[in-house]
Amino acid sequence: MALPAELVLDRFLRVRDELRERVRDSRERRERDGGRPGRLRSRLLDGGMLWAAWLRAPRRVGAVLPSSVPLAAAMAAQVPAGPGLIVELGGGTGSITEGLLVAGIPAAGLVVVERDPLLARRLRQRFPDVQVVCGDACRLPELLAAQGIAGPVKAVVSSLPMLAMTPAQRARLMRGVGRVLEPGGTMVQYTYGIRCPVPARTLARARVHAQRAARVWRNVPPAFVWRFESGTAFAPRLEGTAAP
Ligand SMILES: C[S@@+](CC[C@H](N)C(=O)[O-])C[C@H]1O[C@@H](n2cnc3c(N)ncnc32)[C@H](O)[C@@H]1O
Repeated sequence: MALPAELVLDRFLRVRDELRERVRDSRERRERDGGRPGRLRSRLLDGGMLWAAWLRAPRRVGAVLPSSVPLAAAMAAQVPAGPGLIVELGGGTGSITEGLLVAGIPAAGLVVVERDPLLARRLRQRFPDVQVVCGDACRLPELLAAQGIAGPVKAVVSSLPMLAMTPAQRARLMRGVGRVLEPGGTMVQYTYGIRCPVPARTLARARVHAQRAARVWRNVPPAFVWRFESGTAFAPRLEGTAAP
């Protein structure tokens, strides 16, 4: 049965007014928030930035989508509780950074290292209270020293694309991590591969214990979270180790 023309017009006008109201609300909300983009826009912007970074250097970036909230939560869950400095490597768009902050790690106790200058700028924008260092994580001790960060690090939380690194880069990274970690410190790393991202020989020489701590299906692609621990700082024994 056809609807009378006035009824159709009335519905059309009501829908139009409702849409106008929503647009007005969202504009007002943006103005109130100082022009900051809303959550959805922010996520799209981050996704676009990571994608652009991947196009610039696919092997260095190693992912086209930001990490999911469940992956960030799984990484944060592996960080030992209590005070101490946390260093995040390969911050990207800040999904893991956000997860660490949500888990209760204070912004003042977090340093994020990111090599891509545009992503580093975005991280500073998103987390003004977190110290963001733009540089190569394979030079971690030098990077931290240049920032005047001398204290030992309680945990290193890494999103670095380890599987895309050369053996020499991986060995250098692990040596550096070991040099800055306090004795008994923890390193947390996620990977898309099934196997441990650090070769067994490297782990054995360093007497580092590796544990697959979580599997996260709700991430694209699904990921595994690994935790590395040693009774003492694990760097010196990694000297000269070449990952196969
Ligand atoms: C897999 S992405 C991280 C994605 C991040 N979890 C997110 O949700 O946006 C890896 C990041 O590590 C950075 N990266 C790669 N090699 C690096 C290095 N040697 N030093 C510092 N950052 C590095 C890349 O620029 C990229 O932002």
